[in-house]
Amino acid sequence: METTTKANPVESSAVYPLGSRVNERGHLEVGGCDVVELAAEFGTPAYVYVEDDMRARARAYKDAFAARTDDYEILFASKAAPFTAAYRVFAEEGLSVDVASGGELHMALRAGFPPERIYLHGNNKTDAELRYAVEAGVGHIICDSFDEIRRLDAMLDRPQDVLIRVTPGIKADTHSYIQTGQLDSKFGFGLEDGLAAKAVEEVRASRHLRLVGLHAHIGSQIFELEPYVRAIEALGTLADAEIRLLNVGGGLGIAYTAEDSPPSIETYVDVKVAGVRRVFEGRVPRILIEPGRSLVGNAGLTLYTVGTLKEIPGVRTYVAVDGGMSDNLRPMLYGARYEALIANRANAPADTLVTVAGMHCESSDMIVRDARVAAPRLGDVLVTPATGAYGYAMASNYNGVPRPPVIFVKDGDARVVVRRETWDDLVARDVE
Ligand code: LLP
Repeated sequence: METTTKANPVESSAVYPLGSRVNERGHLEVGGCDVVELAAEFGTPAYVYVEDDMRARARAYKDAFAARTDDYEILFASKAAPFTAAYRVFAEEGLSVDVASGGELHMALRAGFPPERIYLHGNNKTDAELRYAVEAGVGHIICDSFDEIRRLDAMLDRPQDVLIRVTPGIKADTHSYIQTGQLDSKFGFGLEDGLAAKAVEEVRASRHLRLVGLHAHIGSQIFELEPYVRAIEALGTLADAEIRLLNVGGGLGIAYTAEDSPPSIETYVDVKVAGVRRVFEGRVPRILIEPGRSLVGNAGLTLYTVGTLKEIPGVRTYVAVDGGMSDNLRPMLYGARYEALIANRANAPADTLVTVAGMHCESSDMIVRDARVAAPRLGDVLVTPATGAYGYAMASNYNGVPRPPVIFVKDGDARVVVRRETWDDLVARDVE
């Protein structure tokens, strides 16, 4: 036991799910399950989520808030892991939910979220989506455009609580594709150009919309907390006594590799609560946050099987696995870095430099460039940790690849919560 801890960094790693270890067979074990056995039972590629890790993160958010205030609401930003079992876990943990489309709304409702705990987002909500939300009795709609304010008001015959999405003019230090707080953004109403103030007026002049809150989300995979304080200050310039809810977004970054050291959930909550208290002294609104990645990212990992080894002498060795950009687009889209581990020799020294490639017909289909792993062999189970957020969510059928299943593990038991797609699924919607 001692020696396994020393030989392999899994157990002390912030990248792997809580409770991960290397077992007596030298295999990676998560949620009490040997991942080599999981691969044999469920096939690869497969997404595996440690349920207790997801619940622990939800509780970390709840505990951090509860120690500081009794007026808060934590929303699961469901775009990070939009499948029924994830919605259920967070509904059971008492969280509310952020849905970004009619489809996510549908999944949240079907998973049992009470409509009053649902917040509907989107920079281009269709009439059909708005109508679905209104008919379902969704608690809050976050208005994103003048046109939406008018369309929503026109379809209502009763009051509807809304928030206004504000782009506070703050640039967070993250990949430009996931920055959302700057003036030049497709989301929300700018503060600097006065459109946010105008949106407040329009909502207040509407027949049925009740402005209860403001919202700002400045981006995702953020490590530096100071921009949140500036975003809260910016919202403070717009808020008056009628603003009862302040949704300060999600965005907390996670560790994808050992080099990443994001702030803790507690520090993140502390900065947001303290910021709101300072800016809104005497009239502190309910504080809402909507984390996605930090609830599910480290809970999940992907299992692959090594199928081909290609050594180009003096250049590099490619290790090709049975998935790729169809199950994890993040390396290709954002240049995101991941770790890789040969799970069936998890204690072997990671002394071989390889590039983990997918099976798609694109040269960009590299899951991990220059990964250090134990010398790989055909048939090895290769794991990439920290794929629980935006992996499944952004999966595709590129190259006719069926999407992987989602397996939940807990206390040594494994259950399929999303089944693997079949080749027949690929033609199920085709009209002959
Ligand atoms: N709230 C709003 C309005 C959002 O747009 C998002 C994420 C969140 C909350 C949750 O943010 P989180 O806590 O997960 O950072 N596909 C990208 C991430 C896009 C994030 C989109 N919005 C990725 O894989 O990095």
